[in-house]
Amino acid sequence: MAFSFFFRDIFILERLADIISEKAKELKVIKIWDAGCALGQEPYSFAILLAEKVGYFTFKKVVIYATDVDETGEFGKTITNGIYPFQDISRIPIEIRDKFFRQISEDRFQIIDEIRSRVKFQRHDLLSLLPVDTGFIAVICKNVLLHFSQSDRVKVLEMFYDALKIGGFLTVEQTQKIPDELVNKFIQIFSDVSIYQKV
Ligand SMILES: C[S@@+](CC[C@H](N)C(=O)[O-])C[C@H]1O[C@@H](n2cnc3c(N)ncnc32)[C@H](O)[C@@H]1O
Repeated sequence: MAFSFFFRDIFILERLADIISEKAKELKVIKIWDAGCALGQEPYSFAILLAEKVGYFTFKKVVIYATDVDETGEFGKTITNGIYPFQDISRIPIEIRDKFFRQISEDRFQIIDEIRSRVKFQRHDLLSLLPVDTGFIAVICKNVLLHFSQSDRVKVLEMFYDALKIGGFLTVEQTQKIPDELVNKFIQIFSDVSIYQKV
């Protein structure tokens, strides 16, 4: 199910954005993979958090690969256009809303181009076990793995390992634990937040 909302699990995304912004200067391209991105609420939230933390020129280095199996075939259009009804953005703090969304009709709001241009949607099935690319500084995969069997979860996490740069970061939902088989591949870097680093 493609349930999501803007700034879901903000404490995790905020911490990841802090880490990436600290490393941003040394990276040529800031490549992030949001796997299981639903209708784009998560990759756009993360892009906004990053834009708030890094400067204008550094933000231009950001590329977020937003992927989902998208059984409806509709996600690409929503994410590419970045248009959402008021109900979807009503809980976003007003100062963020005013800064990053523009009203295009009575009930519809569009993410500003500066943010929209950094997020690229691609249909992708994680269970294909083929990464969309490699060299990512971060993979965000929240509220997706819980739908998979334990053995598929291990295989998908191994794929993320291969897709990440050495020292890159993996983010899952708080209730997700890295399986024992992979403890040599990922280390948890905070005791209170589910962010792991590729060994
Ligand atoms: C509950 S939503 C989570 C959305 C977002 N990551 C969040 O945390 O709010 C789960 C998403 O995973 C996607 N998904 C499920 N199975 C998938 C698969 N095999 N490959 C890619 N995406 C998948 C669903 O289509 C859905 O959009």
